[in-house]
Amino acid sequence: MQLIDNYQRRFHYLRLSITELCNFQCQYCLPDGYHPNKDSALDGHNHKFLSLSEIENVVAVFADLGVHKVRLTGGEPTLRRDFIDILSLISSYPTIKVRAITTNGSRLLKNIANWQAAGLNAINISIDSLSPYFFKLITGQDKLFEVMRGVDRSLELGIEKVKVNTVLMKNRNDNLADYLAWIKDRPIDLRFIELMETGDDRQLFDHYHVSGSKMEAQLIEQGWQLQPKERLAGPAKVYTHDDYQGKIGLIMPYSKDFCKSCNRLRISSVGKLHYCLFGDAAVDLRALLAKPEQREQLKVQILASLAIKPEKHYLHDHNVGITQNLSYIGG
Ligand code: GTP
Ligand code: 5AD
Ligand code: SF4
Repeated sequence: MQLIDNYQRRFHYLRLSITELCNFQCQYCLPDGYHPNKDSALDGHNHKFLSLSEIENVVAVFADLGVHKVRLTGGEPTLRRDFIDILSLISSYPTIKVRAITTNGSRLLKNIANWQAAGLNAINISIDSLSPYFFKLITGQDKLFEVMRGVDRSLELGIEKVKVNTVLMKNRNDNLADYLAWIKDRPIDLRFIELMETGDDRQLFDHYHVSGSKMEAQLIEQGWQLQPKERLAGPAKVYTHDDYQGKIGLIMPYSKDFCKSCNRLRISSVGKLHYCLFGDAAVDLRALLAKPEQREQLKVQILASLAIKPEKHYLHDHNVGITQNLSYIGG
């Protein structure tokens, strides 16, 4: 059995959010920090984020359905006390070859060696500016240098894939020249992500959204070359340059045909299956996550849900679906 939708897209990649909690206050996500009542996707029936045993049921079923990459997201996934247990659990499935996380990097330097020992082999770290002033302005935290040291430590330890995410904001962090020296001798995939509108941030979006195409034109002008898309690659357009060890990726959700290469499904921190980041609905799987005996039913439900995965998002019409911010679904 395979996960294929009505548009012949194949899903081998699960993004699993394990908490909404976050210790940063990114302006485009949780500008006032995390507040359970205001931001939370928890409702009357679900008072907690997925437990370790619920996560095990999710992972077992998706592994059975051919998923070979699991990315833990949040909020900030590494804030969970049982984070290492969750990593070890995922690593116990031999067919899940890529065990990834997306993190704000606040706990990276101290913990990366332990995470690697528990099976982590791919990591995406958010760094929204290489200027300490703008980093603090955007994230609310004065941690740029600590996060950068964490990135270097991850490289030293030989983590196979180290990617850095920068959400583009007009006149704040969209100057290509600021980043080039940093990736000259570091094998990092630096990705610029276009700011996406969510329910909470229309005003911010109108003010700061900038298309990645301007940066793309600069890259081409400076001799960067577009790489052919790898078979199982995500949505980024990747550029390389002979003089640089690092690569530059552009994630442009507002560009034509962005959704055609969609290869991922998402489970929120409260067990809802989101077939699109900006969908109008999500399928609540929680009742089927309680016991291993329900795994067959869970599988049937997941397969059935795929039939309603939309062809694309409707962000151009400012239709953000049910997504208030990305802290419970992890981007
Ligand atoms: P890889 O597994 O390395 O390919 O990662 P990724 O780029 O999918 O992961 P990451 O968690 O670093 O995501 C970067 C950001 O890109 C996400 O947080 C989103 O903001 C955006 N993004 C990723 N996938 C999608 C998608 O399917 N749709 C939209 N609209 N945005 C996405
Ligand atoms: N637009 C684009 N990217 C976003 N992220 C969070 N909110 C948004 C948004 N509104 C990104 C973070 C991080 C990833 C988890 O999601 O910067 O890289
Ligand atoms: Fe936290 Fe990530 Fe949201 Fe920033 S984008 S506030 S790091 S959940």
